[in-house]
Amino acid sequence: VLAPNAPKPLAGRCFVVTSGPTHEPIDPVRYIANRSSGQQGHAIAQALAEAGGEVVLVSGPVVIPDPQGVRTVKVETARQMLKAVEEALPADGAIFVAAVADWRVATEGASKTKKGADGPPRLELVENPDILATIGHGEKRPKLVVGFAAETNDLLANAQAKLMRKGADAILANDVSLEGGVMGGPRNTVHLVSESGVEDWPTMAKADVARRLVDWIVARMGASGA
Ligand code: CTP
Ligand code: CA
Repeated sequence: VLAPNAPKPLAGRCFVVTSGPTHEPIDPVRYIANRSSGQQGHAIAQALAEAGGEVVLVSGPVVIPDPQGVRTVKVETARQMLKAVEEALPADGAIFVAAVADWRVATEGASKTKKGADGPPRLELVENPDILATIGHGEKRPKLVVGFAAETNDLLANAQAKLMRKGADAILANDVSLEGGVMGGPRNTVHLVSESGVEDWPTMAKADVARRLVDWIVARMGASGA
């Protein structure tokens, strides 16, 4: 519960946040997914709202509750997530936290695929749209665009490459091979990579990563003074 007189440095500012995994259907009973729980994205949406921001949270399928004080739009696939983000623009800032499935099957089965004499099916995959890159290079680009980079190798080099390739102002790089499991776990270790260099943040609860990111956003955008 918020103190009624808590400072609202982001009052009057609008944000879009993506969170959770996406599910890409193979047939009516199966899908491609990943281990994302939505905890980090939901925490960021909530922290922005607590700072006074007006927030649209575009979430893939998650089991955690919708954050308070935020408009949550639920989607399933990467393509639906891109559409929902585009519909939420214009915004002053966009934070792309979702673990978007990189691939979907080329042709979704209309009925359940059955076992049979032909052996296992061969799934043909096609690449999903890159939501962050589309918005980061798009006409309606928000003034502030932040992404994440989930890496198991060459963390900072890969994050720096993503910063450029996706047109982001900052990338929060996290090593998803760390013991304990970042994806689905309660804590996160991130490095904030921007044009001004790299900030190594200590391991924190995901809610604290969210608050620290909001502090960085306020410093970057300037408090609205409302
Ligand atoms: N992202 C996105 N849409 C996609 C894939 C990724 O918006 N189709 C966003 C994620 O939300 C994250 C950032 O891009 O903010 C980086 O995601 P990541 O999976 O680390 O990078 P990819 O570009 O997909 O590259 P790869 O998985 O091959 O490392
Ligand atoms: Ca990816």
